[in-house]
Amino acid sequence: MDRPAREVPQEMPEPSPLACKPVVRLRKVGKVYDDEGLRVTAIKSVTFDVPERKFAMIVGPSGSGKTTLLNLIGCIDTPTSGYLEVCGQDVAGLNDNAITDFRSRHIAFIFQNFNLSPVLTAYENVEYPLLLLRVPAAERREQTTAVLEAVGLWAQRNHRPNQLSGGQKQRVAVARALVKKPTLVLADEPTANLDTRTGAEIIALMRKVQEEHAASFVFSTHDPQLISHAEETFAIRDGELVDHRSEGKN
Ligand SMILES: Nc1ncnc2c1ncn2[C@@H]1O[C@H](COP(=O)(O)OP(=O)(O)OP(=O)(O)O)[C@@H](O)[C@H]1O
Ligand SMILES: [Mg+2]
Repeated sequence: MDRPAREVPQEMPEPSPLACKPVVRLRKVGKVYDDEGLRVTAIKSVTFDVPERKFAMIVGPSGSGKTTLLNLIGCIDTPTSGYLEVCGQDVAGLNDNAITDFRSRHIAFIFQNFNLSPVLTAYENVEYPLLLLRVPAAERREQTTAVLEAVGLWAQRNHRPNQLSGGQKQRVAVARALVKKPTLVLADEPTANLDTRTGAEIIALMRKVQEEHAASFVFSTHDPQLISHAEETFAIRDGELVDHRSEGKN
């Protein structure tokens, strides 16, 4: 963790300069899956920066490599080539324990299928990341309460996931992602299982949190409603970056 980030290798191409510091830097990042003799090149050689404190979207057709890219950025998986820096850290320079620690401190995930624990209540699901970080009980109570109130679910705090609607489950997932005040929030198609109205509510909630906590968001999505909020759009096709657009806030 304390190790300084390695210098970016000289031969790596630099993308155009950005107004903000990047929260993620990819240089010629590639990912080849090699499972039992089946080799799939999911990401070919991708170079881009994600500026901090933005709503950034990775878009592209099914199978283009969006989930793979998010998993690399989230340090769930490791690149097979290239250089990857997340929150200023060269992640290749970390061992497994350090990666787990780095991820739990800085990165949060929101999954399409919510990934809540069915045996825990809404409150316990949200509190869980703080338990992993060994946050003392009083602080845990304060932070969990604040974030559940912020997502409008205090009244449902004792419900288990099967006693919540889809939108409420996704709000619990958002609350769980944000309770530890992560630097970077990654979300793989976070609105895909929600109706338009609930999707809009979840997007508004994430925007509010982004402004309040200055978090950076990277989404993968097909949802035009979510894409309309993009401040940075990275289009990928067959594992390659084919377009990058930067916009002001809508
Ligand atoms: N564990 C794996 N082993 C082998 N190949 C994989 C694995 N995971 C994904 N792939 C392949 O890598 C490519 C990119 O997959 P990925 O899941 O990243 O696409 P995606 O853009 O997220 O698609 P979708 O929009 O359908 O979710 C696909 O060709 C897929 O078949
Ligand atoms: Mg996917």
